[in-house]
Amino acid sequence: MNTPYNLDQFIRDLPKAELHVHIEGTLEPELLCALARRNRLTLRYATVEELRQAYHFHDLQSFLDIYYEGVQVLLHEQDFFDLTWAYLERAAQQHVRHAEIFFDPQAHTDRGVPFDTVINGIRRALEEAVPRFGISSRLIMCFLRHLSADAAMQTLEASLRFKDWIVAVGLDSSELNHPPEKFVKVFERARAEGYLTVAHAGEEGPPNYIWQALNLLNVSRIDHGVRCIEDPALVQRLVRERIPLTVCPLSNVKLCVFKSLEDHNLKKLLDLGLCVTVNSDDPAYFGGYITENLLASQKALGLTRHDIYTLTKNAFEVSFLRPDEKQCLIAELDRFMTGEAVRHSPLEGAR
Ligand code: ADE
Ligand code: ZN
Repeated sequence: MNTPYNLDQFIRDLPKAELHVHIEGTLEPELLCALARRNRLTLRYATVEELRQAYHFHDLQSFLDIYYEGVQVLLHEQDFFDLTWAYLERAAQQHVRHAEIFFDPQAHTDRGVPFDTVINGIRRALEEAVPRFGISSRLIMCFLRHLSADAAMQTLEASLRFKDWIVAVGLDSSELNHPPEKFVKVFERARAEGYLTVAHAGEEGPPNYIWQALNLLNVSRIDHGVRCIEDPALVQRLVRERIPLTVCPLSNVKLCVFKSLEDHNLKKLLDLGLCVTVNSDDPAYFGGYITENLLASQKALGLTRHDIYTLTKNAFEVSFLRPDEKQCLIAELDRFMTGEAVRHSPLEGAR
């Protein structure tokens, strides 16, 4: 009996966790233009379509230039609420049950937008999403690594009033020539204040930046990390200590880290025994949210149903949720898997 087995539908329906999404990177062109209008700002693009046409990148920096231009439409608390709410609506449609969300306070405070305005808007949306969508969340505050360590320290200090709302600090923006070691003191202080730590490393930067993030910043997870594969001793360490990589396949192709999705090393990383998760990074710019990342990766790399399950279970396991919260979501995932197996068994298919 040949039951039609719809892997696409399985991916769409699966309960998911997202661990690597920049809230500013979820700013869709339509909302960007609407906020520009609401805030009486003039864009250098006449239409939404024209703006979308500008989304062609040849590396991380060419993307960041457009990304930092885009965030300039975010001025008021309501703008940050609307941005976050729009992401949560999409996430809910994709059965995201838990989201760990980066925000870049310096991209706003450097333009004169107060830290409070940013975090209050984001936080209000995250709180409302719990009863409305059943989505839990955690916030991760990133330091822009192209700015100074002193500026990062000032941002850390500004965040302390909101310590209870932020689970971890991270490191993002231009990776090359801004190694993790630049931020050792800031991360030490952050850990002393009770924050967990993560860092973008090994996206464009060399494996050595991943070593630094582990050894000097004591990170719990590496964001991206795909270049670890160039260093077998590093792979061994990541496997042995089960240090997760939050991989973002569509992002890596858009930013030319890999020539095509077929060339992506996601499947190799999985097969090497690394704890990998799939994430969307900046979905408004890279052509898809978590489901599209999983769908496209499955097709390009021939991921199996078991691979997809592993990627999803990894994300729940290495999230910053409490153990009881993780258990609850993993139980939901496993109930879904059992239901799926029944729905697609030959007997069920014969009915
Ligand atoms: N900020 C937003 N997206 C980023 C990425 N993919 N890498 C580094 N910094 C970022
Ligand atoms: Zn990122």
